[in-house]
Amino acid sequence: MKLGVNIDHVATVREARYRGLLKGEPDPVAAALASEAAGAEGITAHLREDRRHIQDRDVFALKASIRTRLNLEMADIPEIVEIALKVRPGIVCLVPERRQEITTEGGLDVCAHIKGLSETRCRMNDAGIEVSLFIAPDPDQVEASARVGCQFIELHTGAFAEAFDEPAERDRQFQRLCGAAGLARSLGLQVNAGHGLNYENVHWMQRIPGIVELNIGHSIVSRALSVGIERAVRDMLHLMNTPGSFQ
Ligand code: PXP
Repeated sequence: MKLGVNIDHVATVREARYRGLLKGEPDPVAAALASEAAGAEGITAHLREDRRHIQDRDVFALKASIRTRLNLEMADIPEIVEIALKVRPGIVCLVPERRQEITTEGGLDVCAHIKGLSETRCRMNDAGIEVSLFIAPDPDQVEASARVGCQFIELHTGAFAEAFDEPAERDRQFQRLCGAAGLARSLGLQVNAGHGLNYENVHWMQRIPGIVELNIGHSIVSRALSVGIERAVRDMLHLMNTPGSFQ
């Protein structure tokens, strides 16, 4: 599995001190380059409507600087769609967004927004940008995603992560992920996963056949405070891709 490192929370720390200024540390681009040097195969950043962490200038700077693929997470809203079309990341991941939430709480309701998502998917693909939809591991949402014509889905692993210490619920959530991944692949979709993955639970993802990429942010940035980002990324890659390895 490939690792996409989500560097949003590097910008969260910067904004805590330098909000409104065009400078400041830590630098998300430096974190992205260090992640790549440690083996990350993609960099993910979420340009939120409220700009609480990543700013517009970060997205352009990341696109100009990184050597791997930029995955721009975004809501399907006109302002951000126009920015994405200017930045031209390798891929966009469309996510639901609510101002009050601390992080992306649920998956997209693709069933209810097929028309709008299909239009955005077409515009992105016409600009050479692949499209992923961030969804809960529900068969209806997977089937609707296939109808939208996106290239990828990203399965929301949050419910699995939250249930990790309760074996019965964890196993139920894990089966949901396996079922959704299998259905998606049978419909020709490529499958990524992410949200809430960490050094304890990530090894379970090895048992879901066919996952292309995991997008992981909070746990890597947190560990980077103690061991540095390169080591944090290398440790995660090891747990993702070494059979039988767990922390
Ligand atoms: N994937 C998506 C679509 C997300 O919205 C997020 C959170 O920004 C992540 C992955 C990463 O989640 P975490 O920070 O919990 O690793």
